[in-house]
Amino acid sequence: MSKLPAFMTSLTLLTALATNAIPAAGESSITVKTWGKLPSGEEVKLYTLTNNLGMQVTISNYGGLITSLCVPDKEGKMEDVILGFDTLEEYMEKSPYFGAVVGRYGNRIGGGTFTIDGTAYQVTKNEKGIQCLHGGNVGFDKKIWDVEEITSENLQHDRIDTDKIIGLKLTLISPDGEEGFPGTINTVLHYMVPKDTNLLVVLYGATTDKPTHLNLTQHAYFNMKGAGNGDILDHEVTIWADRFTPVDENLIPTGELRDVTGTAMDFRQPNLVGARIDADEEQIKIGGGYDHNWVLNVKEGENFRKAAKVRDPASGRTMEVFTTEPGVQFYAGNFMSTMPGKGGKTYVKRGGLCFETQHFPDSPNKPQFPSTLVKPGEEYKSATIFKFSAE
Ligand code: BGC
Repeated sequence: MSKLPAFMTSLTLLTALATNAIPAAGESSITVKTWGKLPSGEEVKLYTLTNNLGMQVTISNYGGLITSLCVPDKEGKMEDVILGFDTLEEYMEKSPYFGAVVGRYGNRIGGGTFTIDGTAYQVTKNEKGIQCLHGGNVGFDKKIWDVEEITSENLQHDRIDTDKIIGLKLTLISPDGEEGFPGTINTVLHYMVPKDTNLLVVLYGATTDKPTHLNLTQHAYFNMKGAGNGDILDHEVTIWADRFTPVDENLIPTGELRDVTGTAMDFRQPNLVGARIDADEEQIKIGGGYDHNWVLNVKEGENFRKAAKVRDPASGRTMEVFTTEPGVQFYAGNFMSTMPGKGGKTYVKRGGLCFETQHFPDSPNKPQFPSTLVKPGEEYKSATIFKFSAE
């Protein structure tokens, strides 16, 4: 479990992505503080990672949450681009997966059922009482993870130079049968920030003792103007996908991979989110806007694919997403309603957008989709990179 995916080739990759690397301005650091306690008495902490350029990411051992992420615009003005709450209690009571790690199965499983080797499993139907969403009632987003700082000893990856990054290693054991899913899952999650580049690298690894389905993702809501500074309809989005997976009225994929050409789902050229989000199209109506899985284009021999890009034209603040996953859920915050957020700010409908890198929804019931089945002796591996710049 300590080994990192072989495809996570090296810091060369990170450096190659980092066209905006500039010389160090400060000292990178990791600071820790207590945030609160769960009713069980377990202590909840916040770890703040600051790199040499001043990019700052705060992560919690509760849900593996990213509670804030501060990056500069073209003038160097920092903003926290992640939606969230000030208090742990708000995350426990009413969070729509703000900043959370989602597991065991990110997105939906139709009927909350699937069959493995002839055995039928019923997992928690926590959405509308008919299907499973984001792993059930108590998913990985509501668990206390063990956290340690990444060191050369515990990273054990000969091609990542731990002198060049700061990061956290989070581990979680999910018992056999949890939320109805088979298999004891050992999960290891690495959050890494290069000291001299504004990137957030998220690596997922897991093993199981029984065949099971896994689909881990990060559910952060981004607003490149800064969380609480209005909606994301004026953001410009690009998605490197020729196809998407259309859904039925319960947002379960029909199984088709549909061409985006001529539809509001075509983001192969940069488009404002708001330009077509209320288009008179069946799929848009079902999702209440964008809430779909895009089938990422694959280039031969490429492990990491460019998934999506979002840019706030006014500030220039930009994020690009690269992943080893075959799909990305672009969720435009359609189900959000006006609510208080961090720092006295108010979040509005579509106040943030998510790029959840993933295997396709309902894959356990769709043999034609890339498989999410993981067997004993195999290692589940997934990686996503969020790159920040100002354009
Ligand atoms: C889903 C949305 C859902 C949101 C919060 C997204 O991944 O696709 O439908 O509302 O998560 O649960």
